[in-house]
Amino acid sequence: MVKAVVLGAAGGIGQPLALLLKANPLVTELGLFDIVNTPGVAADLSHISTPAKVEGYLPPDDGLKKALTGADIVVIPAGVPRKPGMTRDDLFKINAGIVKDLATGIATTAPKAFVLVISNPVNSTVPIVAEVFKKHNVYDPKRLFGVTTLDVVRASTFVSEILGNLSLSKEVVVPVVGGHSGVTIVPLLSQSSHPLPAGIATSDYEALVKRIQFGGDEVVKAKQGAGSATLSMAFAGAEFAGKVIRAVKGEKGITAPTFVSLASDPAGAAALTKELGQELEFFSSTVELGTEGVVKIHPLGTITDAEKALVKAAIPELETNIKTGTNYVAEAY
Ligand code: NAI
Repeated sequence: MVKAVVLGAAGGIGQPLALLLKANPLVTELGLFDIVNTPGVAADLSHISTPAKVEGYLPPDDGLKKALTGADIVVIPAGVPRKPGMTRDDLFKINAGIVKDLATGIATTAPKAFVLVISNPVNSTVPIVAEVFKKHNVYDPKRLFGVTTLDVVRASTFVSEILGNLSLSKEVVVPVVGGHSGVTIVPLLSQSSHPLPAGIATSDYEALVKRIQFGGDEVVKAKQGAGSATLSMAFAGAEFAGKVIRAVKGEKGITAPTFVSLASDPAGAAALTKELGQELEFFSSTVELGTEGVVKIHPLGTITDAEKALVKAAIPELETNIKTGTNYVAEAY
């Protein structure tokens, strides 16, 4: 029995994500919460012939608490998306408050749930959830994840485009490490399961890195003010949630890049810290998942000089983003 809950379930990401979770046969209960429209979304999804029982809740009458009761996994795509010209960090002020309130709800109602944060800026919203959980004495770093899967999905797609065969995209695995905004997104293309063409021009390699780092901008621009990535994000969120659910149900050897606290695996963190040359509280690396959440944070391994330079460039921004999230909660209480 797995109860999955989506907070922000009526939104551009929330609705297709809820659809994909409803289609996951391992999900037996699906709780939907939003400040608008969840009864309609839930009624619609409830007619789909898959096992999950669906319920939609709004804020009145303890809706958040009802949605979260008994939750095993909570996915958070609540918040405001980017508009043209906005960076993910511009979203911070609005989304920080939303995430803090939802995290408080989880801490008090479903403190053991696995929490998957999609709301941007992920580099700051994940530390916010961690700090809120600490305030409520329920923080287990192994159970908190920033969803960076869209970067991984984009890397697979763009690499397979370069290889001239989109049907490879399901198989292409590129570790994407660091964080989840701009230069903090570091694709380790040298470790791609399907190598780039031999002798790829430096300018083409650099353009590919940039496209993976700023892929979200392509969508923001194409949507002309109507929002940011929603459908690809829902796909990515459902992929990652599906992995967490399979791991929690006992499947072994499941790995995925995700933005986690380095306190979730001190031994793995020590090796990673050595590679990074400095301590960070959170970092996205390939993580092995298990019944209790994080099992092992993998090191970066052998990377090229170009990738070392990308990691180096990511660290200061990552550090600032993490501090922004942590300070927000310190000031709020
Ligand atoms: P949207 O505006 O379409 O949907 C957001 C939903 O959150 C709305 O239905 C809204 O009513 C709801 N909401 C607002 N305050 C709430 C609260 N206090 N409690 C519950 N629900 C609340 O936005 P969209 O496009 O779905 O994006 C959602 C978030 O995901 C944004 O922060 C966006 O930046 C982020 N995002 C993250 C990505 C990632 O890779 N991690 C990729 C793309 C977007």
